[in-house]
Amino acid sequence: MRFFGRLMFVLTVLLFAGLASSSSFAKAVKVGVVLPMTGPIASFGQSDWKGIKIAASLKPTVLNGRKLKLILLDNKGDKVETANAVSRLIFKNKVSAVIGAVASGNTLSGAPIAEKAHVPMVTPASTNPLVTKGKKFISRVCFIDPFQGKVAAKYVYNNLHARTAAVIVDMAQDYSVGLARFFIKAFKKMGGKIVGNTFIQTGDQDFSAQIAVVKAHHPDVIYMPTYYQELALFARQARQFGLKQTIMAGDGASEEALIKVGGKAVEGLSFTNHFDPKAAVTPLGKKFVKLYRAKYHEDPSAMAALGADAYFVVANAINRAGSTNRIKINKAIRATKGFKGVTGIITLVNGDPVKSAVIQKVKDGKFVYVTTVNP
Ligand code: PHE
Repeated sequence: MRFFGRLMFVLTVLLFAGLASSSSFAKAVKVGVVLPMTGPIASFGQSDWKGIKIAASLKPTVLNGRKLKLILLDNKGDKVETANAVSRLIFKNKVSAVIGAVASGNTLSGAPIAEKAHVPMVTPASTNPLVTKGKKFISRVCFIDPFQGKVAAKYVYNNLHARTAAVIVDMAQDYSVGLARFFIKAFKKMGGKIVGNTFIQTGDQDFSAQIAVVKAHHPDVIYMPTYYQELALFARQARQFGLKQTIMAGDGASEEALIKVGGKAVEGLSFTNHFDPKAAVTPLGKKFVKLYRAKYHEDPSAMAALGADAYFVVANAINRAGSTNRIKINKAIRATKGFKGVTGIITLVNGDPVKSAVIQKVKDGKFVYVTTVNP
């Protein structure tokens, strides 16, 4: 009897040890997510999160069955909130990695904290080159703005036959300031001329001053690399005041909210982007679009697709690292090579991928695919 009791005890201990080392009792691996779920660019955060959730449903576990637990914090599209969120995830929640943020200016504010704490941070969408420059722990899954600006300049010069452009910049966004600069450089190099350079700030509602400047210069095209809200409001007022030029924008245009707010005024608006659901090239991209449509009854935006890719890059890296050690995970993230992601094939060099851009435009109240531009 005594022997039998002891045997049962040993067996029970072995059973629990076995369970603990496999799935159910092993601790979840924590990954922080910082997104603008509210505030002026909330559409980006909402889409990003939807995309991340689809990716998580496809790959819910890492390290042989441990759950990948996402901790989402809202940065409201704000720099200080981003810094606070990144700190909290790193020092309080002790996450193994951070996904985020969206706006380049936000990521630039959170990144130094992750860098200093040696915690890998992967931004789905921040395209400003400074986001990763000189950093070892910050990576991204999107192309960068010197490329994006050049693609836009070539498109307006070659396809829209524009020789003069007015540029409207959101001074409050590092993204907008940087992308405008790269566009101007490329457009001038091709022989184009910038005839009006005027400024707005995130949250502006009245664009009459900027419209007057543009009107006075009669540009062939208006380049406005801002986020969707200001872009939509500007377009409405510009059309009201008789401006007929094509508006060219950047990836900041890429949410349905642009069309909801802009209505007829954004017809013909063209922009550079990361992904078109109708032109998905990889098997994972096609699968993602199918799952996304089934779950949300809409097409995934570029932001949703990039969110999924950020999740996959982090989850795959945790597996390759074989550990929750942040430095090992960072090494594995940075060694990402030939990953056939949702938005394309991702190989990171110093934290940046080299990827194609698509050009889309608004036609009959919808985003339509125009073309793909390879680097
Ligand atoms: N590239 C933008 C930035 O750096 C964010 C963005 C990416 C917006 C993709 C829409 C789609 O701020």
